[in-house]
Amino acid sequence: MKEIIIYYSRTGENYVNGSIKTLTKGNTEVAAEMLKKLTGADLFQLEQVNHYSNDYNVCINEAKKDQRENARPKLKAVPENLLEYDTIYLGYPNYWGSMPMAVFTFLEQFDFTGKTIRPFCTHEGSGMGTSESDIQKTCPSATVEKGLPLHGANVIHAEQQIKKWIK
Ligand SMILES: Cc1cc2nc3c(=O)[nH]c(=O)nc-3n(C[C@H](O)[C@H](O)[C@H](O)COP(=O)(O)O)c2cc1C
Repeated sequence: MKEIIIYYSRTGENYVNGSIKTLTKGNTEVAAEMLKKLTGADLFQLEQVNHYSNDYNVCINEAKKDQRENARPKLKAVPENLLEYDTIYLGYPNYWGSMPMAVFTFLEQFDFTGKTIRPFCTHEGSGMGTSESDIQKTCPSATVEKGLPLHGANVIHAEQQIKKWIK
């Protein structure tokens, strides 16, 4: 059986060790690509139809509003099916202690019976937050393993941590 890495990540302004920088590649994408290199798994990016703003402060508010309203932002695409995969690595940034609402949009579209979800997230201090239990609640028939929290600003140094976790 095959493995797939499905991730959500945002480019644009973000805090990097205390100052705002414009990232051309999101932190979770960096981690997802490392994971791909180490596992050989397929890779799929979840993208919202309506991207959150490149402006950090605007994005913060857009994402907060979506979370407060329990919104399901539309995705540009999802994998055609997950039948051939038994393990799904699911990557996302920690947003307000959980996941971007678009990750819920994805999870609700598939049947995860018999599948293992291995979550990983990038964050600035909150670790996995409630995301692991949020995934389990959304996908009750999946086996949700303990996730890997990575510090977003230092993600380029995360390869050893990822290597240890995938074993
Ligand atoms: C809307 C929004 C909400 C966030 N909320 C949290 C949070 O609650 N806890 C935390 O540790 N980091 C939080 N962050 C920081 C991100 O999790 C962190 O920068 C992450 O590495 C971004 O990943 P990306 O570049 O792949 O999008 C938030 C960032 C954004 C944009």
